[in-house]
Order: sequence, then C-alpha cells, then structure tokens
Amino acid sequence: MKPSPTILIISFSLSGQTHGLLTSLISGLENSGCHIRQERLQPLTPMRFPFGSMTKTVVMMLRTFCRQRIAIKPLSASCTKPHDLVILAGPTWSYHPSGPMLSFLDRDGHRLLRNKTVIPLISCRGYWRMHLWGLKGLLKKCGAQVANAIIFSHPISEPWRTLGVFLKLSGRHPEKMALISDHYPRYGHDKAQQARAEEFGRQIGSHLVTGQPLADLSFQDPISLP
Ligand SMILES: Cc1cc2nc3c(=O)[nH]c(=O)nc-3n(C[C@H](O)[C@H](O)[C@H](O)COP(=O)(O)O)c2cc1C
Repeated sequence: MKPSPTILIISFSLSGQTHGLLTSLISGLENSGCHIRQERLQPLTPMRFPFGSMTKTVVMMLRTFCRQRIAIKPLSASCTKPHDLVILAGPTWSYHPSGPMLSFLDRDGHRLLRNKTVIPLISCRGYWRMHLWGLKGLLKKCGAQVANAIIFSHPISEPWRTLGVFLKLSGRHPEKMALISDHYPRYGHDKAQQARAEEFGRQIGSHLVTGQPLADLSFQDPISLP
C-alpha cells in the first residue's frame, strides 16, 4: 500500500488569523489521508499583539515596509525529514512577508526548501499581490518550486477594513466602536473562509494521494479576487 503523503507546514501568525485558517486546512488534509508536521516560527523575543498604541503601530508598519527581519528560534530537526509538500503560511506585513518569515527564508530557506514543492498560504486584510510576487521570487532563489498559492483576505469592504485593522493593531476594539461597528463586525476571517480552507485542504490531500498536479487546483476565495 502507498504510504500517506506527508506535508510540512511552516507558519507564523501574530494575531491568530493564519493559524485559524490552518486549523481548518489541516482538518481537510488529514481527512483526505495526509500526515501533517507543523512547525511554528517563534521570534527570539516574543512579540506582543496588539502593539499598544497608534504610534507603535505606525513604527511597526514602517519597519515592516522596509522588510525588517525578526530573528527566530531554531527549527526542530524533523523539518529536514522528507515531505511531499511544504505549505508556507503567514500574514502580509506592509506588502511583504512577515519579519519572522523573511528570517526563516534567509536562514533556512535554501537548506529546507531546495527542490521542494511549496504552496504559500497568505492571510491579509486585502493587499497580497506584492507579497506573493516577492515571496515567489525568494522561494525561487531558495530553489523551491511554487506549485500554487492560497490567499485569504478579510471579508470587509473598504475603507472599514483598513481602518478596522489599524485600530485593532493599535489595541482598540473597532467592532465595539460607535460609527464603525456597523461596518466592521469583526477582525479577521469568517466562518465561510474557514470552511473554504478545509475544502482546499481536502483538495490538496486528494491530489497528493492520487498523484494529480497541484497546479491544476484553483484556490479561489471570492473575497480575494480583483
Ligand atoms: C505590521 C502589519 C502590517 C500589515 N500590512 C498589511 C498589508 O500591507 N496588506 C494587508 O492586506 N494586510 C496587512 N496587515 C494585516 C494582516 O496581514 C492581517 O491582519 C492578517 O490576517 C494577520 O494574520 P495573523 O493573525 O496570522 O498574523 C498588516 C498587519 C500587520 C501586523
């Protein structure tokens, strides 16, 4: 009997959105017969969410716009074991991958991702194109093959989405604020997106089990389309 496909998921999540989506994706993958190994990137200095003030949030956005790296702890040895697929999951920070993800790619990317098939998963408020384009370039430099990409944007219309994320990062509660709460019921992804992530997991799993190309899959979350 053919062994179960094994998938390494390397992830970072500051406010829990990426990890929420991954919980659903993993459930779909496991239900279709895959074995999952999950590695969470951990900053050397633990990060605080929310940042605590508007000034601190603006400073963080400027730093992340300059792609400032955030040093991370060493990864576990099991990451070097053979895997059929690597899923690289994390948020968009100022149009780029997050600081911990950039540190991972600098330090471990070539060693762990060379000749590997990779699917990036991005959680963002809605502006992911530059992130994906830059990430694909970095992965190519590491020698990885990008088979597909999964994008989830926050399902709220503008300008509320941007305002809501900024307030949330600063430590406010836009979902409870007069004038804003009618347009901004919650921060982050919704249940329909969780269900879609689970379905994407099932599709990836069944393609790996049957040996079909992952590039044939279409991971369309209607919210993230142009
Ligand atoms: C410093 C910072 C910068 C951000 N910049 C962007 C951005 O440029 N585009 C975007 O769509 N979302 C941006 N976001 C929002 C996050 O991508 C979004 O909230 C994501 O769902 C967070 O995922 P996580 O909880 O897994 O960290 C930013 C968030 C932070 C903390």
